[in-house]
Amino acid sequence: MFEPKTHKVLKSVKKRALIDNETYLDWYQQSTKNPEKFWKKHGKRIDWFKPYTKVKNTSFTGDVLIKWYEDGVTNVSYNCIDRHLKKRGDQVAIIWEGDNPYEDKKVTYNELYEQVCRLANVMKSNGVKKGDRVTIYMPMILEAAYAMLACARIGAIHSIVFGGFSPDALAGRIVDCNSTFIITADEGLRGGRVVPLKANTDKAVEHAARDGVEVRNVLVVRRTHGKVDWYEDRDIDYDEAMRLAKPKCPPAKMKAEDPLFILYTSGSTGKPKGVLHTTGGYLVYASMTHEYVFDYHPGDIYWCSADIGWVTGHSYIVYGPLANGATTLMFEGVPNYPTPARFWEVCDKHQVNIFYTAPTAIRALMGAGDSHVTSTSRKSLRTLGSVGEPINPEAWEWYYNIVGEGKCPIVDTWWQTETGGIMITPLPGATDLKPGSATRPFFGVRPQIVDGEGEVLEGAVDGNLCIVDSWPGQMRTVYGDHERFILTYFSTYKGKYFTGDGCRRDEDGYYWITGRVDDVINVSGHRMGTAEVESALVSHDSVSEAAVVGYPHDLKGQGIYCYVTPMSGVEASDDLRKELVKHVREEIGPIATPDKIQFAPGLPKTRSGKIMRRILRKIAENEFSSLGDTSTLADPTVVDDLIENRQNKK
Ligand code: WTA
Repeated sequence: MFEPKTHKVLKSVKKRALIDNETYLDWYQQSTKNPEKFWKKHGKRIDWFKPYTKVKNTSFTGDVLIKWYEDGVTNVSYNCIDRHLKKRGDQVAIIWEGDNPYEDKKVTYNELYEQVCRLANVMKSNGVKKGDRVTIYMPMILEAAYAMLACARIGAIHSIVFGGFSPDALAGRIVDCNSTFIITADEGLRGGRVVPLKANTDKAVEHAARDGVEVRNVLVVRRTHGKVDWYEDRDIDYDEAMRLAKPKCPPAKMKAEDPLFILYTSGSTGKPKGVLHTTGGYLVYASMTHEYVFDYHPGDIYWCSADIGWVTGHSYIVYGPLANGATTLMFEGVPNYPTPARFWEVCDKHQVNIFYTAPTAIRALMGAGDSHVTSTSRKSLRTLGSVGEPINPEAWEWYYNIVGEGKCPIVDTWWQTETGGIMITPLPGATDLKPGSATRPFFGVRPQIVDGEGEVLEGAVDGNLCIVDSWPGQMRTVYGDHERFILTYFSTYKGKYFTGDGCRRDEDGYYWITGRVDDVINVSGHRMGTAEVESALVSHDSVSEAAVVGYPHDLKGQGIYCYVTPMSGVEASDDLRKELVKHVREEIGPIATPDKIQFAPGLPKTRSGKIMRRILRKIAENEFSSLGDTSTLADPTVVDDLIENRQNKK
């Protein structure tokens, strides 16, 4: 097996780091031996209106109950803002860098306090109450962070929908959590291109009404001042409302287990699930991982390039960093606009110390050539991070040597929407790095590797990744469907949280995530259920049947490969192919754009009618010489046609 070279912890890094290897091993042992004691202590890193006396009350069997700090009372926005005002009211809380490189803004903690209070009052005066669901469909602008924190301030539950999702996808998420208040912008701006967020929202609201959910208000931020339709009795102008609102709003007293947010994510079956995170444990975990994983020191400028539409944006642009009183950078644009030097120019412009991005961006920038990097200084950089998908050792080395000039440790952080925060990761001053490995578990995280039958595998092995005990950042339920929560995560391997990821552990106890073992694919770090793309395809009149699989893609990590059986009498033409691509983009959004569509008169099925995805995956991967046993197929001859017409010929 290819084993990339180990990079030892640098002396210069160890000297200033918060955690060295001895401390890591010691704390890790404490955290797993006596989690109650460990988390009792670390729960105090946030402020509580009423301190907790109970710490951990969790079970992965039966009804699956997960409660942390359950009798404590706190507020997330208080912890992210108010408690810093005395010491760092004039410190910059958020640096906003626009899509246009000449546009930026800085917001201090004092200013953040006022904006969040005003917005909280706007929401309150429009009838938003504790426990109500508020949908946020916004570009990467300051108001998106205000919106999250304002919800947290009054105890409303936010559900952020990524701005790249289509009106239909937005409508589905509005309906699922019965959300009647939406915050959006006229238009978003990314890479110089305009995203019609308000127009999409209008369509989604109409669609939601057909499905029985009447949206009461749409609060609209003017980002581009582009022309939008206006519905007087429903739409609210953000600036006008903010001007009239009072600048102070007391933080609601929230129980530790009161919901903080819902975030929809894809699974292997059905519609996206509403992952529910709660207040106390989530914030303890997000802030603690932010501090130790990135080796954050007060005064550091920290930048996570994710979008707030994903969990990384929730935990590591907004909640974790702000709970720690950090200066967090929020970027509206894309890595290659106006040029592939943008990331590094922004690092220089704002003197960024900690930079966290995704392998897909690293690979794309690597492809654009070193000169875009070496034309910048990057002297301020100290820690680099990676998240979202496995990072190939080649991209890792490029990030390490070219971007970091061999001076910045890379934290390859494995985690999920469901885990709330980082789970397996190096710590800069403690962990020797192996390119491609997420290395070792964070405090309190107990990974286990099991085989297909659930047999626990010890030592250096390859299998399926489970986590055997709870941690404070864990999701608590699927919104409105606790049964689905139990079924999805705790039924495959009884009594264990199953991640859906494959994983190898090496002889040093390092973990190597090998990718999803279920029907979820990871396209440019965006998680997608193949079932969702299939259901979008079959909703087209010309499609009789569809099966979707992932295949290796140089830039995106995985690409989307679709096998489509047209309705009888429909011609399998290039025009239809284009039409279907357009259709999927409309149904889900541009992130689900199919890379390949292969028309197939028949799909490989067992005699009981189950599609054999293993075969479809192999053909998409161009590995049709190792198809395995096809004799159990109802009609083995379909395979020859599939191979003959594959779209991925080398
Ligand atoms: C994958 C993103 C390898 C994994 C925070 C996981 C990773 C899914 C890594 C969750 C990593 C995330 N190395 N794979 N460092 N980080 N993944 O919910 O398959 O959008 O299950 O959360 O991304 O994606 P999600």
